[in-house]
Amino acid sequence: MTDTEVRKDHHLRICLEEDIAGLDVKNGFERYRFDHDALPEVSKAEIRTEISFFGKTLRAPLMIGAMTGGSTQAGQINRILAEAAERRQIAFALGSQRRMLEDPRSFASYDVRKIAPSVLLMGNIGAVQLNYGVGASQIQMLIEKSGLDLMAFHLNPLQEAIQPEGDTNFVGLTARLQEIIPQLPCPSVLKEVGAGISAKTACKISMLPLGALEIAGVGGTSWAKVESFRTNNRIQAETGVQLASWGIPTAESLVTCRRLLPQLPLICSGGMRTGLEMAKAIALGADLVAMALPFLHAAQHGVDAVLARIDQIIEELRTVMFVTGAGSISALRTDTVIRRIGG
Ligand SMILES: Cc1cc2nc3c(=O)[nH]c(=O)nc-3n(C[C@H](O)[C@H](O)[C@H](O)COP(=O)(O)O)c2cc1C
Repeated sequence: MTDTEVRKDHHLRICLEEDIAGLDVKNGFERYRFDHDALPEVSKAEIRTEISFFGKTLRAPLMIGAMTGGSTQAGQINRILAEAAERRQIAFALGSQRRMLEDPRSFASYDVRKIAPSVLLMGNIGAVQLNYGVGASQIQMLIEKSGLDLMAFHLNPLQEAIQPEGDTNFVGLTARLQEIIPQLPCPSVLKEVGAGISAKTACKISMLPLGALEIAGVGGTSWAKVESFRTNNRIQAETGVQLASWGIPTAESLVTCRRLLPQLPLICSGGMRTGLEMAKAIALGADLVAMALPFLHAAQHGVDAVLARIDQIIEELRTVMFVTGAGSISALRTDTVIRRIGG
């Protein structure tokens, strides 16, 4: 196995077996509550959770978040997740496709189009790779070969800082993105991986010709913590533990980004676990909600377990829509009252 394959399998094992949540942090949605509507004037059976996103109809505003690819185990997981996404008509994101640039044979682990021909499919590469020799033609190849609808560039400075082999030169990256994105054949998405997008970052992002932004805030998987399990460098490992809760809680990042980027489609992620949190995110301005770790756990038990998890989340969403009197996702966004509890 190559270094990247070993790293990918190592990440999967740590995420499945270790406690990788930040210490004492939540995603921030616990600070919000909806006004209950005891006279909702809608029939639960007629509630519509469908949305249209980048030209595709989704059964609900839900995405299986970016996780994996590049090894045999990763390929098996991607096929299970992609089949579930296709059967339920939700969006699906591949993990980093850097391995495809190193070894074209690894494409088999990202090759989900045969299983999921109609799914909204998002690809993935580290934005920092643009500073380490990756150019527009290589990303075009990833998009075309994998049949992507969207291409995500992940921003993960904290993870790279704790990673033994981390790429930490982020100099000039906004300008590199500005140059590369217009050359790509599909819309681009910028995403964090669990530390969120601040107001300062959002202002830089506003200069970019993006299709969407995935905020991936604090409250779920902590990549500082994941990498602290991997590194043999004791100082780096301790730094990862100390910064395990670093970043902006997801709800706070969502509200900030919606205020500063009013027109940009937002994917809300980072510790999103329930249909209630999903409903709150939509009411606070998200267009789509992505969940990663819960689907990795479900995938260990096969396609039916992933389908059951999706069905559970959508039923919770539908129930919240019923008791807020929202007959559609657009009504959930505009016609419900959501309050911040306390200060
Ligand atoms: C096993 C695993 C692998 C991941 N790999 C990637 C990746 O390759 N690229 C990426 O952008 N994000 C990656 N992520 C981050 C997720 O897409 C997401 O932003 C983050 O985990 C927060 O969501 P969660 O709390 O629902 O897991 C990964 C997450 C997990 C759990």
